[in-house]
Amino acid sequence: MAKVGIFGAGWVGVVTGACFAELGHTVVIRDIVPEKVDALRSGVVPFHETDVQELLTGNAGRLTFTLDVADIADCEFLFVCVDTPPTQSGDADLSRVWSVVDQLPALAGRPVLVMKSTVPVGTGDKIRHGLDQRGLEHVAYASNPEFLAEGNAVRDFMQPDRIVIGADDGETADGVASLYESIDAPIVRCDVNSAEMVKLAANAFLMTRISFINEIANVCEATGADVVKVAEGVGLDHRLGPHFLRAGLGYGGSCFPKDSLALKQLASNSGYHFQLLAAVIEVNELQKRRVIGKLKQRLGNLQGKTVALLGLAFKPNTDDMREAPSIVLASRLLAEGAAVRGWDPVADGTKLPEGVTICGSVLEAVTGADAAVIVTEWAELRELATSDVRVAVRNPLIVDGRNLLNPDDVGRAGFAYEGIGRPAASRELERA
Ligand code: UDX
Repeated sequence: MAKVGIFGAGWVGVVTGACFAELGHTVVIRDIVPEKVDALRSGVVPFHETDVQELLTGNAGRLTFTLDVADIADCEFLFVCVDTPPTQSGDADLSRVWSVVDQLPALAGRPVLVMKSTVPVGTGDKIRHGLDQRGLEHVAYASNPEFLAEGNAVRDFMQPDRIVIGADDGETADGVASLYESIDAPIVRCDVNSAEMVKLAANAFLMTRISFINEIANVCEATGADVVKVAEGVGLDHRLGPHFLRAGLGYGGSCFPKDSLALKQLASNSGYHFQLLAAVIEVNELQKRRVIGKLKQRLGNLQGKTVALLGLAFKPNTDDMREAPSIVLASRLLAEGAAVRGWDPVADGTKLPEGVTICGSVLEAVTGADAAVIVTEWAELRELATSDVRVAVRNPLIVDGRNLLNPDDVGRAGFAYEGIGRPAASRELERA
């Protein structure tokens, strides 16, 4: 078992550390924010992520948290798990990555600096050069991108589809691979540049699938097909597969929006205009706004109308509001003069624009509302079309931004229904 140091006690760092500890390694997680380190030391996880609390408690003996970089000096592997947010130009901001390199303590033996953070292709080469310039030629370097989805991060770590290790020599790659020995997954070994690109390409492909199915949904609406059935029929083709074909309000979150911009910028900085990715991003932006059109079609002018946004986090099972479609929707609705209510079982909605009323329950949010919009497919919302809700609303309209509900059931419960790429609306209009 190895001694693993981790830079960054954010979501990636804590999940990675907790999972390595679970695999039997000794882990030291270092951060620069005292409050974060204090909270983790006292057993408080500063975010909502399934199973992480249990892993921290169960492996407390193998897991320490520190502010002092000297505490990781004897680690064999040093994982970089810091943020790489977008800069004003959309490039990835690598300042935190570089501050890790700058703060490396004197390291004995032949430790490996391992990049988990998502970085532009070519970053590894620059870091190698930076290490050499700082007299750290003995520190090996590897890229080992994470493919963790929020809400499933522990499962994604423990049962990955693959482990990607980019390194310039076999010994370094073997060392990183040994950390994952007890995990049964294919290992892709490659050069550092390719490992960096795998992460960006995988995310871009997933986003492409989402924007693709969202455009198909929009064409379904125009032609009277049902995108849910279309996705099922398409996804059963083994060459295509069923995943990431759920039409909805578009992707959000901490990764996709920033990584797509970063890849687009990386390509353009290298002299290539990545047309397909530019379209994927644009489709996603427009998709978030489509609900406004649906509401106007049903309610006319939105001035003075009350709209309940149900689910605020960018996806279920997380409290993460980063790039959540709810933010764009709330802003647009407020700009149209609507009164906006918000409800989420976990996210507190503090990132929403001023003027949104946060409610403690679904019933409170929909009381007196002219429309209830499912923004995030929380399981709790499967039972939205109840008689209690029917009585509480001013106008029985459910706009299902995630195609969570069965349109026929919703109709039987006395509501008008609008999904994404589903024909219920046009059928109703025809009947009328
Ligand atoms: C994603 C990747 O899955 C992960 O591998 C990467 O490391 C980080 O980015 P995450 O952002 O946590 O993870 O969530 P994910 O479950 O992938 O969903 C991303 C977004 O796509 C969400 O907004 C979700 O609502 C949306 N989505 C996903 C769809 O709209 N349709 C789909 O079919 C799937």
